[in-house]
Order: sequence, then structure tokens, then C-alpha cells
Amino acid sequence: MTWDPEQYHRHREARDAPARDLLALIPDLPYRDIVDLGCGTGEHTRRLAERFPAAQVMGLDSSAEMLARADARGVPNLQFERGDILDLGGEYDLLFSNAALQWLPDHAALLFGLWRHLRPGGVIAVQVPANHDHGSHRLLTETAEEFAAELGGFTRFGTAQGASPVLTPAAYAETLDELGGVDITAISKVYPVVLPGAEGVLDWTRGTALVPYLSRLSAEDGERFVTAYLGRLRERWPGERVFYAFTRVLFTARRG
Ligand SMILES: C[S@@+](CC[C@H](N)C(=O)[O-])C[C@H]1O[C@@H](n2cnc3c(N)ncnc32)[C@H](O)[C@@H]1O
Repeated sequence: MTWDPEQYHRHREARDAPARDLLALIPDLPYRDIVDLGCGTGEHTRRLAERFPAAQVMGLDSSAEMLARADARGVPNLQFERGDILDLGGEYDLLFSNAALQWLPDHAALLFGLWRHLRPGGVIAVQVPANHDHGSHRLLTETAEEFAAELGGFTRFGTAQGASPVLTPAAYAETLDELGGVDITAISKVYPVVLPGAEGVLDWTRGTALVPYLSRLSAEDGERFVTAYLGRLRERWPGERVFYAFTRVLFTARRG
């Protein structure tokens, strides 16, 4: 998938609030090794490195475009690496991930896999969006179904692909307990975003949810796809103001 950091950061303010909440949930412990899974352009990784100067902090991401904007200068305990979360190696005292794990399937299995990389006493802290049933996503799936031939039948949350991998806070808590996690926090929170009409919703999804579709289409088909999607968005939100109740799930636990 080809990410566009400029587009992603057009809504930086709104996207930053859940990350700040996640950072606030992390207890102050003497961490030695920290990894930020799906670090993107690395702003949160940098905040972790500055907050825990005694720890080695690594930002891991598969996108060359995002990592090209990641900046480790002036922070000696910070580094970035290109790689897949599913190929994670090593052991860490803090596994951090903000708005990235939703791109990976089967979250119970994923947590079991990640847990093996967490040292005893270590902390996992994750935030994932849980708004796949929101109109902006449903209309995207509908558009993808219209473009089934061009997309080879791909839909992210449609019938072909199954439901969103994101679990409920209760299901994350149960999985963490099964793994032997303690001090478990698992919450769902709505982050209100006000967008300027259907075009605003398009601009928001362009930075994230649209990425896997546009990555699979030629430039010309991509333009037709966006036009068809925008048509649906305008029908759903004909006004100039869209209140977007953006739901996210945050969870943390310590390995006992
Ligand atoms: C929505 S961005 C979030 C970036 C950053 N964590 C933030 O909060 O600003 C999602 C990031 O996850 C990365 N990503 C998605 N799947 C990945 C995978 N399997 N392995 C590594 N990175 C992945 C993408 O490249 C992208 O940079």
C-alpha cells in the first residue's frame, strides 16, 4: 500500500487526541526496549523516546513513504526500521501501537504473537479505530462492490473480506487476561470530529481508509472510484457540516 504522509497529516489535530490518551495510559516504568508498531512518520515514537530517555526506542513501519518523514535527529535513543509487524523480532518492555493494528487480521492471534515479544513485567499499549460500521466506511465498501472487476473483488470490510478485525474492549480484555496480563485497561471512546460536508469526509478517508483501494487501482480508475464514492457521500451528507462520531478502542496491560 502506498501511504501519503501529507494527506494523513491534514487531520493531525484530530488524529492526535487518541494518541495522547494512549500515551497517558502508559505507566512510568524503567523500560529498556520500546517498539512503536506501525509508527508512520514517527511523532509518537519520538515522544516515547523523549519521555523514556533510558530506553532504546524503535519505530517499525512497512511504508517507505511514511518512514521517509520519520526524524530521529537529536534523539540518541531513537531509531526507525522498515519491516512488517508480523515479522517482529526481539524482546521489549513496551509494545506501543497507535492506529496501526487495524490493518492486520485476527486480533486474538495477533495479540498472542505479540505477547511472545513482551518481557515479563512489560506493557502493551494499543489504540485502534472501531468505526468500520460508520457511513463513511459502509459507503466505501458499497463503492468497492461497484468496482469489483477493477479491484479483483477486494473489499476491506465487505463480504469477501469478512468483518473488521477490531474487537470490543471486553474481547481485548479477555484475551489479555488469557495471556496472563494484569492491570488491564480496555475502553472505547468517541472522538468527535466536525468535517466540512461530504468533501470533508472524503478528505478524511483519503488519508487512511481509501489507501488500500487506491493502491489497487490505476490512476484513471482511482479517479472514477473517488467520484463514485463522493457521490454516495453527498447523498448521505448533503449539508455543509458533518459530525463524525469517531469511535476508538484503547487498551493496555502489563505482563504479570
Ligand atoms: C494510520 S497510520 C498510523 C501511523 C502512526 N502510528 C500514527 O499514529 O500516526 C498506520 C501505519 O501502519 C503501518 N502499517 C500497516 N500495516 C503494517 C504492517 N503489517 N507492518 C508494519 N507497518 C504497518 C502503515 O504503513 C502506516 O504507516
